[in-house]
Amino acid sequence: MYAYEGAAPSGQGSDLDQLIQRVETGMDAGLLPVEVFCDDQVFRAEMERIFGSTWVFVAHDSEIPKTGDFVLRKIGLDTVIVARDETGTVNVMLNQCRHRASEVCHEDQGNTRHFRCPYHGWTYNIKGEFAGAPHFAEAYGESLDRKAWGLRRAPQVDSVNGFIFACLDARTAPLREYLGDTLKVMDAIFGLHPKGMRAIAPPERFTVRADWKSGAENFCGDAYHVSTAHVSVGLSEFIPDVRQVSVIARGLDLGDANSFIAHEITQWGPMFEYWGYPPEVVQQFDFSKLDPAMRELIRKSPPTIGTIFPNFSYLRFPQPAVAGGRPYPFTSIRMWQPVAPGVMELWNWQFEYACVDEATTRESYLAGVYGFGSGGIFEQDDTAVWEGIAKAARSPWNRRDGVMLHYQQKRIEPDPAWTGPGEFYANIYGERLQEGFWRRWAREMKAGGTATARSPEDKHTARGGEQ
Ligand code: FES
Ligand SMILES: [Fe+2]
Repeated sequence: MYAYEGAAPSGQGSDLDQLIQRVETGMDAGLLPVEVFCDDQVFRAEMERIFGSTWVFVAHDSEIPKTGDFVLRKIGLDTVIVARDETGTVNVMLNQCRHRASEVCHEDQGNTRHFRCPYHGWTYNIKGEFAGAPHFAEAYGESLDRKAWGLRRAPQVDSVNGFIFACLDARTAPLREYLGDTLKVMDAIFGLHPKGMRAIAPPERFTVRADWKSGAENFCGDAYHVSTAHVSVGLSEFIPDVRQVSVIARGLDLGDANSFIAHEITQWGPMFEYWGYPPEVVQQFDFSKLDPAMRELIRKSPPTIGTIFPNFSYLRFPQPAVAGGRPYPFTSIRMWQPVAPGVMELWNWQFEYACVDEATTRESYLAGVYGFGSGGIFEQDDTAVWEGIAKAARSPWNRRDGVMLHYQQKRIEPDPAWTGPGEFYANIYGERLQEGFWRRWAREMKAGGTATARSPEDKHTARGGEQ
């Protein structure tokens, strides 16, 4: 049985290995050890093995459009400066002075030519290169190798549809290869207009006493909770007939724990084609890059919710109430930012297509914040129920008895008629997408951060030896 022993370096005890093993074998039977949602060893290992090796979303191009623009972001527990240099290149640098490790940047965002450490004054340019220090000649003369003492930089940085990702491990596959089929879904969601999308405002951030994985797992495939957890949304008529929303949910699994929920919202009427974007916006969309299956999917049953492993999630849904009669979709991007075992910071951006006018963009922003802001009616439903999971994970009673959570909905198989990327499920019951999340999690944790190559075995396989 797994015993709780408090903080310890990861990988040094067999407890952690046993727990990872229990996640793997548990998934064969549709069971998950509850303690993964709040555990010191698990958390420390996740920061090293998952956030130290996977591609993590850090910013969007529209947040730092000009030379010298920067934002402060997180990769796991590390704070990084994401800055655009004079060549247009985005550099992702550890916010840590190379002299004695004080933080060189204390602003969430801004524009600058350099970062000057507040301790002794070492200074770095926008690329993170060492640019000077006070009393340089007297203190250092020729003894300091300027090239060797720039800020630490993420070895890999790349972007897709303006979404900038960074990876702290040079061995990990390049971003496009790493994302594989997920690129096709990102194109269908974020790449419909040549001008792309833009972040309407800086991200909202708030602390949730729940584990980062509760959010990631929920968004990767949990359509089942909607009719219960969000029932008040139906009672308030913000969304009509919320009890039936699970029934029109579909699943799209791109492998590697990148998965989306789609909703056949056109059952509500033709105005909900393409998420409910009005004709004047849809007319500006370029569908030429999409294969026929993806095009039909976004017309009829658009992907509304999704997770790209580990902690990037997406949400786009038409909101009838705020837009005053005609539905209009908001687009929310969120990061489940780990803070401590069983505690996360939720970062939440509202996005809109850059081609959309200001007044409509404002409506879209309000709709997104009203539904999924920190005081939003959906957000509070979700975060409140997730906090219970972290409490259960801390329970000595549960840990003593090795309590497992239930992932045993009746099995469903992918739709054999689907010709688009990944695997498509005609309904969302079966918890296949959540199973994919946990199999990827176990694979990364087991491999100690080297499990990022794509191979046929990477896709999650059937439970208990079934195929
Ligand atoms: S710690 Fe930054 S200059 Fe000394
Ligand atoms: Fe929810």
